[in-house]
Amino acid sequence: VNANPIAVFDSGLGGLSVVRRLRELLPGESIVYFGDTARVPYGSKTRRTVANFSLELSRFLLQFNPKLIVAACNTSSALAMDVLKRELSVPVIGVVTPAAAAAVRAASEAAPGRIAILGTEATIASDAYPAAIHALAPQLEVVPVACPLLVPLVEEGRAADDLIVRLAVEDYLAPLRKRPASVAVLACTHYPLLRESFARFLGPDVDIVDSGRETSVEVARFLEAERILSPAAQAGSMRCFVSDNPARFRRVGSRFLCEEISDVALVSAEEYITGPLVERDAS
Ligand code: DGL
Repeated sequence: VNANPIAVFDSGLGGLSVVRRLRELLPGESIVYFGDTARVPYGSKTRRTVANFSLELSRFLLQFNPKLIVAACNTSSALAMDVLKRELSVPVIGVVTPAAAAAVRAASEAAPGRIAILGTEATIASDAYPAAIHALAPQLEVVPVACPLLVPLVEEGRAADDLIVRLAVEDYLAPLRKRPASVAVLACTHYPLLRESFARFLGPDVDIVDSGRETSVEVARFLEAERILSPAAQAGSMRCFVSDNPARFRRVGSRFLCEEISDVALVSAEEYITGPLVERDAS
């Protein structure tokens, strides 16, 4: 038993869709969240920048003595996991490995065993998902699809049935008409909010894997295996930190969390920006 919090970081408010799943599955766990709203988006940045930013956020969160750090951001998980694991003394769980494993399980039971990965430009360019999938099942075919416009559309409050969302989804997912997939991974924090739009395009036979949900299951498994679950008696607390615009975080973020957000503090640049930490692994 360990009552220390789970630390969660993201490029902004999207990671709250992962926190939503964590709080559903592990209501007794306290969560401390850092959203880098000043520097979002990460999805169009390079590996070196994303690794440096992710490391800064994680180091800021270490002051709360977390028992675990969750990289809720798909882009960070795809580009920075090796650096985070190397540099941090606390266990780190990202969203790519659990989502890839779930996709492999689903695709192994379906025909054709083809997996579509829907993510940001940087996540798709990194090849992290195909690598994680092929490490488990080299025979499965992967179709990577970058959908960069969807993040701002979701933040603007456009819903799954919005005309512009529907057009964007149809355009981005067009390659899947020729190469149909049996599984689609929502490999971005924002896409669970457009799940219905994807489902409408993909049809009822395609399994949709939510990387946040799969990650919460992995976190529960890890805490149980390590015997560091929180005492179940009371509800876990939640504290949020942002690098810009707490009011917008509260307003837009509550749609991702599906709860009101009360405790949000603004962090100034001197408190978390430590300068370039990673010069290696540049690309
Ligand atoms: N959180 C990012 C992700 O899941 C989406 C937003 C961004 O580009 O920073 O990939």
